[in-house]
Amino acid sequence: MEPIPVLTGKRIVLGVTGGIAAYKVATLASHLTQAGAVVDVVMTQAGQRFVAPLTFHALTGRPVYTDLWSAPGEGLPTHIAHVGLAHAADLMLIAPATANTLAKLVTGLADNLLSTLALAARCPVLVAPAMDVGMWANPATQSNAATLRTRGVHFAGPARGRMASGLEGEGRLVEPEELLGHVRWVLGRRGDLAGRRAVVTAGPTREPVDPVRFLSNPSSGRQGFALAQAALDRGAKVTLVTGPTHLATPVGAQRVDVTTAQDMLEAVLSAVEGVDVLLMAAAVGDYRPTKMEAQKMKKTAADLTMHLTPTPDILSAVAQARGPTGYPRALVGFAAESENLLENARTKLAAKRLDLIVANDITAPDAGFAVGTNRVTLVDTDGNAEQLPLMSKAAVAEAVLDRIDCILRGGTERDHA
Ligand code: CTP
Repeated sequence: MEPIPVLTGKRIVLGVTGGIAAYKVATLASHLTQAGAVVDVVMTQAGQRFVAPLTFHALTGRPVYTDLWSAPGEGLPTHIAHVGLAHAADLMLIAPATANTLAKLVTGLADNLLSTLALAARCPVLVAPAMDVGMWANPATQSNAATLRTRGVHFAGPARGRMASGLEGEGRLVEPEELLGHVRWVLGRRGDLAGRRAVVTAGPTREPVDPVRFLSNPSSGRQGFALAQAALDRGAKVTLVTGPTHLATPVGAQRVDVTTAQDMLEAVLSAVEGVDVLLMAAAVGDYRPTKMEAQKMKKTAADLTMHLTPTPDILSAVAQARGPTGYPRALVGFAAESENLLENARTKLAAKRLDLIVANDITAPDAGFAVGTNRVTLVDTDGNAEQLPLMSKAAVAEAVLDRIDCILRGGTERDHA
């Protein structure tokens, strides 16, 4: 896992209480550490029955706290462990959180290091409950969860599914990947784009030929999803309009699923009202079959000619609509090119009246469609072209958002340079 800017250098107190799902939290501790966070694990006695403190120590490279009277590690503001850890933390995450610990948080009980820390903490608190279906459904637990929510405690899950007991229902810990998304969401709320709204498009479109066939392209949606995640990490409110993909929705994004270019146009036009930025990363099909066959087309020996009709150009439609309203304030397009990269990108920038275009050479094997990396050039309205090295799609998203930030602040591209 590569560093994640919203996590880099952030101090996270990770409270592990007693539940079988504690083993999954070891994976999360590893992800958080690899992403650049400083993770201080605090375990209750029951938590230690499921996973050894040594596991977390090995994964985080830091001391693991198991008792109220332990001496604090380095770099804390005071030598009193519970005060030092609580005051240094940017986030307190309790995962898994048992019914017992939730009840303690509600009543302010401070009978172990974790519950004491929770009382002393000034940072946001995120809890990921995990317990038996009946314990979660119990009115006592439900009422405790509701009370904590009204006090501003964030919740991740619990998820629905099969429990270790064999029962099915609500009470499972959310998976580590999703939990990481919740952590990013909570930590990102005060980012550079807090209070801003973004619409991001992603993935391919599909234009039906008959009930079982369609015209499409190999877009995986990864670049668009990475942009949505990066915008969320900076505090933006994000609507993600996506064609068919297998990707999980970034935590906090409002997802709108679409199929055809026409669907995407309608979804984007209704979402962009009043937003600050539209990032059009979708690989929108340029043509659709003029007529969709109502029945499955039958094979014959003869050649087949298909009539195609152009689909609407979404960026141009938004650029036109923004005339009177001024929204979105920043319009960003992508240019997928197989030749004359810069020339074609500049033509699109002007024709679609964009503020920035992200050009990529789709013939490079490590860039463009359906790979994890991209090699792009950012072309702006001042005529500058910044060629970025090969990087992950997440890193490309960060570079694009740095530019957006600058455009929204009213800076010129020269300020950026
Ligand atoms: N785009 C759009 N509506 C379309 C087609 C594309 O809004 N019907 C957007 C894409 O999301 C992208 C930008 O326009 O941000 C450029 O897309 P691209 O496929 O590179 O260019 P086209 O305009 O389709 O031109 P061409 O296929 O001739 O290169």
